[in-house]
Amino acid sequence: MHASGKVTAKMKPLFEELSNIHQKPELFSAYTAETLWTEPHLAQQMLQTHLDQNTPLASRTLPVIDQTVEWLDDRFSLNGKRVCDLGCGPGLYAERYAQCGAIVEGLDFSANSIAYAIENATADRGSLSFRQANYLTDEVPAEQDLVTLIYCDFCPLSPVQRSTLLEKVRRSLAPDGAFVFDVHSTKALQEISEGTVLARNPMNGFWSANDCYVFQSTWIYAPDAVSLDLFTIIEQGKTWRVYNWLQHFSPESIEADLHAGGFTVESIGGGFGASDETAGTFSVVARPS
Ligand SMILES: C[S@@+](CC[C@H](N)C(=O)[O-])C[C@H]1O[C@@H](n2cnc3c(N)ncnc32)[C@H](O)[C@@H]1O
Repeated sequence: MHASGKVTAKMKPLFEELSNIHQKPELFSAYTAETLWTEPHLAQQMLQTHLDQNTPLASRTLPVIDQTVEWLDDRFSLNGKRVCDLGCGPGLYAERYAQCGAIVEGLDFSANSIAYAIENATADRGSLSFRQANYLTDEVPAEQDLVTLIYCDFCPLSPVQRSTLLEKVRRSLAPDGAFVFDVHSTKALQEISEGTVLARNPMNGFWSANDCYVFQSTWIYAPDAVSLDLFTIIEQGKTWRVYNWLQHFSPESIEADLHAGGFTVESIGGGFGASDETAGTFSVVARPS
């Protein structure tokens, strides 16, 4: 811009760039969870966030995790049971399941979190193991009494991915096994509004070790009950994006998903995560039909 305030031709590319950044993407048009959790800088940041007791951003706090495992133990009598924890992160739940006497395998695609989980496992190694794996594409263990997927990791998945995951879980479970997970509620969607913020090196350098600008654009797909936080990270010579989709569920819509995936809902709500009720999540217990 001239000192006079006159717009020059040089402003046009910037306008076009910003317009591109602010295009609303097609629903579930990109899946970047692997970048979010496994890109080396982000994986380090995520591990610290999992363990940080001042923020429940990546894992719930330890007292809430203790209550959850206590609830699971009361309901499923974990002693001697085979349990698979999908998306186990640094093993905070898996470790506790094993302490209740379960034979546990934790799966996660973050090598960093799996390395931490293995190093810090105090339970007997024979009854607690961890494996780096993508639960959408890799082998999952068979004949499990319980499969858990905790902290709403069903929600970033597209309908096709959710059906793939349900098929994997069904194959992983013993005939009378249970799948326990939690989801964001449609009530939580009402609290979200569309908008964009731009910040330089936000969240203490969470996104990159380099100097960067980050646009966070929030979009809502109201008829589909989906929200998207789209992060556009602009570094010297490199622009990249992370899509954080969240499917929000009502008891009816999660039941429909599970039914289509060959599951019967045993219970919805209550149980674990109850102290997170205000955050708009609810838990689900389902069994193969
Ligand atoms: C929100 S964190 C929850 C971690 C753990 N369940 C907890 O509550 O402490 C999601 C975890 O799922 C893992 N994850 C996400 N998508 C995955 C996939 N497709 N396969 C394996 N792990 C995945 C991430 O690496 C991350 O550790």
